[in-house]
Amino acid sequence: MGIALSDQRTRRAKLRLTNAQRSPVFARQLAQPHGLLGHLTGRMMVRGNCCFNEWIVDQLADRGGSEVRRIVEVGSGPGIGLAYLLAAFPDAQLWGIDHSAVMLKQARTRNAAAIRSGQLTLTNGDLDCLGALPLVDLVVAVHVLYFWADPQAELRKVRRALGENGAVSVGYQLRRNMPYSMQEAFKANGHRLFDTDELVTTLLRDAGFRRIDVLTRGPHRMQLATRAQFQ
Ligand SMILES: C[S@@+](CC[C@H](N)C(=O)[O-])C[C@H]1O[C@@H](n2cnc3c(N)ncnc32)[C@H](O)[C@@H]1O
Repeated sequence: MGIALSDQRTRRAKLRLTNAQRSPVFARQLAQPHGLLGHLTGRMMVRGNCCFNEWIVDQLADRGGSEVRRIVEVGSGPGIGLAYLLAAFPDAQLWGIDHSAVMLKQARTRNAAAIRSGQLTLTNGDLDCLGALPLVDLVVAVHVLYFWADPQAELRKVRRALGENGAVSVGYQLRRNMPYSMQEAFKANGHRLFDTDELVTTLLRDAGFRRIDVLTRGPHRMQLATRAQFQ
């Protein structure tokens, strides 16, 4: 009995990972959720990113209005952003692109009615998939920027996917607003964090975007950038 108890304790101690050990695994999952852990990561994203996505879509709905007919969300994860976009732009056609099959499954369940009605299409892939779509009015990317090895190249792909009056909305957090263990884990995985909003603005400008607005709400950031100078 005594031996069994101490065995249990040892097993539990082994399972009890420190934050430092857990974070790199979690950071990898955020970049491309997979397996059972990926499924759990998706559920955590729903809780953690819900308000941010809602705020972003509110900003877009206030500004975008009725001219937004085609929207793509890249890195759509578990599909909460898509759900808000569908509600805010009921007449628009939407696409969600993600390279994680686990995330697409969650997004499919969350937005089943819109998929059935043909309003929403989900695609397993990366930003090269944008080339197969008709030109769109809006591309949304929330908490995805960190994972692009060459963000400028990816933003250029986004710009090419936009119609003349199109815009991109990039949602992110600055390094200082992330827990230290997560900052370290992102670094260890080669993910990119940003110290200032200006760095993100420069990326957008260098990728060819114009009229770049920076919106903030507490730790949440969104930069909204247009393809053309005048709209
Ligand atoms: C941190 S999650 C954010 C998900 C969602 N946008 C949100 O705010 O909850 C990042 C998502 O982007 C996806 N992703 C990262 N890089 C990608 C890429 N190059 N192409 C497609 N999906 C990507 C990941 O699979 C993951 O689902």
